Amino acid sequence: MGKYVIAGNWKMNKTPAEAKVLIDEIKPLVADATCDVIVGVPFVDLHVALEATAGTNIGVAAQNCHWAESGAFTAEISAGMLKEMGVGYVIIGHSERRQYFGETDQTVNKRVRAALDAGLTVILCVGEYLEQREQGVTAEVCAMQTKIALCGVSAEEMSRIIVAYEPVWAIGTGRTATAEQANEVCAQIRDVVKGLYNADVAAALTVQYGGSMNAGNAAELLAQSDVDGGLIGGASLKAADFAVIVKAAK
Ligand code: 13P
Repeated sequence: MGKYVIAGNWKMNKTPAEAKVLIDEIKPLVADATCDVIVGVPFVDLHVALEATAGTNIGVAAQNCHWAESGAFTAEISAGMLKEMGVGYVIIGHSERRQYFGETDQTVNKRVRAALDAGLTVILCVGEYLEQREQGVTAEVCAMQTKIALCGVSAEEMSRIIVAYEPVWAIGTGRTATAEQANEVCAQIRDVVKGLYNADVAAALTVQYGGSMNAGNAAELLAQSDVDGGLIGGASLKAADFAVIVKAAK
């Protein structure tokens, strides 16, 4: 399956000074990681994060980008701006963006397109609400989000797409999907990608699980056949916990 990737999504946490402290703590703990390691930091922390991770095995992600190259979009950040800074990754379509900031499948697709055009690697987030799971439409919801987000993305560009399955009901709630639930949906997402492209693209795709993944449950989740990594919120803010999750990804 895909290469293991463990990414922290710090969300709106850590000032630049605090970011430097946390990254300096994380660095030695993950220096011998066998998976890819990424920290997804607030925009204002990017500069410090890039400096602190220079020459290390830690990649830096932004948490969003706009779809336009430039223009009258007050407070927005373009993918090209991130690329010029040296940022390698961008998280797109996080459920908090969809829930609180009006992000739609269509704007997610536009942002994915812009990020790829700028040369970034995308961590694309998809996932169902609890109500949707209870209605039995988890597979349909995740398939729709994945398909729309990937409109206009070529098979070659799929090497710069990571998909993170993040059930909304498991985010920040302490309620984790069971390993079986996580694996089932990650496999369905891989199958959708197989249908859109081919078996090789699907097999090479990294599909992460996110939602209350922590030092205690990471090993079981990451041992699943279709779970190739994690997108970690709360536990990525503690260096020791994050390092345990990184070590579990092998
Ligand atoms: P938690 O790990 O805090 O549940 O957050 C998951 C998440 O949203 C990562 O993007």
